Amino acid sequence: MDPASGGLAPVISPSTNFEQLPDGSYQQNRVYTRADNPTYEHAERLLAALEGAGCACALFASGMAAATAVFQSLLPGDHVLVSRVLYWGVRKWLAEFALTWGLDVEFTDTSDLVALASAFRPGRTRLLWVETPANPMWEITDLAAVCDLAHAAGARVAVDNTVATPVLTRPFEHGADLVVHSATKYLNGHSDVLAGAVLTARPDPFWERIRSWRRNAGAVPGSFEAWLLQRGMRTLFLRVHRSCETALAIATHFRDHPALAAVLYPGLAAHPGHEIAARQMSGGFGGMLSIRLAGGPGHATEVLRAVRVFKRATSLGGVESLIEHRAATEGPSSPVPADLLRLSIGIEAADDLVADLDGAL
Ligand SMILES: Cc1ncc(COP(=O)(O)O)c(C=O)c1O
Repeated sequence: MDPASGGLAPVISPSTNFEQLPDGSYQQNRVYTRADNPTYEHAERLLAALEGAGCACALFASGMAAATAVFQSLLPGDHVLVSRVLYWGVRKWLAEFALTWGLDVEFTDTSDLVALASAFRPGRTRLLWVETPANPMWEITDLAAVCDLAHAAGARVAVDNTVATPVLTRPFEHGADLVVHSATKYLNGHSDVLAGAVLTARPDPFWERIRSWRRNAGAVPGSFEAWLLQRGMRTLFLRVHRSCETALAIATHFRDHPALAAVLYPGLAAHPGHEIAARQMSGGFGGMLSIRLAGGPGHATEVLRAVRVFKRATSLGGVESLIEHRAATEGPSSPVPADLLRLSIGIEAADDLVADLDGAL
């Protein structure tokens, strides 16, 4: 609510600066919007309430600005463990810039607890970065188990919760120290805002470094984007539950289709991470799935050309269903199999999506 007018919708504060009082103080301690803005705070309070555990939240200009703020708040020489399967933009940034930043980054299979346990270097590993379900194979990491391992080795755990959203998984409840979002995806949900967020279980000096990075590097969103984000979040639960239901219906319908070599979806009992997902996700297994074409990359291209309801586009988490050839998007260095198509399920009628994919296959 807007306390000034009584309006149900909050107002936007576009001001970049705030007036100083004659005594040198500021009315609400705000000086300049690169540091603070009331419209960011509205979305931050909402997201912090959703992630729970009394956490604090800072909005960023994009998911990548949020993710890199965490890495850039580490110190040269710090050892970082990162999920082997994860959103390629983070992997690419780490590959290109971590070295110049002096970070010692090691990719590891975070779904293999034995391998992970031996990868920690006590006293040197400062951060474990996990994405679950992870792009684009939807591998599942057991958050409670990896948090125990990391904490025993003195490392923080950051979880990219973009795909699960707090509707399905609240990583702080499993022991995570930091949660990161591309708010561009489900949180906003309408494919019209670029934004990100970092949340912390507790305000500590590392959190102050992340906030200081945002302020001093200017990694903030515009107030209009922050306003649109809080508007999108009002329908988050409806959209995510609908996407989950339809994704499960599609995965179930196509799991034995003769044209498919695999349907990758953690909601299917045959998925290797299904049991863990059933434990740590509540209310659904997410709106993302991938299919692998038995006919190989050529058939994947044909299917991509033939769909009519699915939109051929990158990104995820919007109200419209998307289909994408991930290996082509990621480029020649991509580890994603060339026979894989990634689907982001929107809020259309499930029957229309099933019929569209059936026809295309
Ligand atoms: C899981 C995940 N994390 C982070 C990002 C980066 O977010 P943004 O595009 O908002 O910078 C993305 C974008 O696709 C993503 O899918």
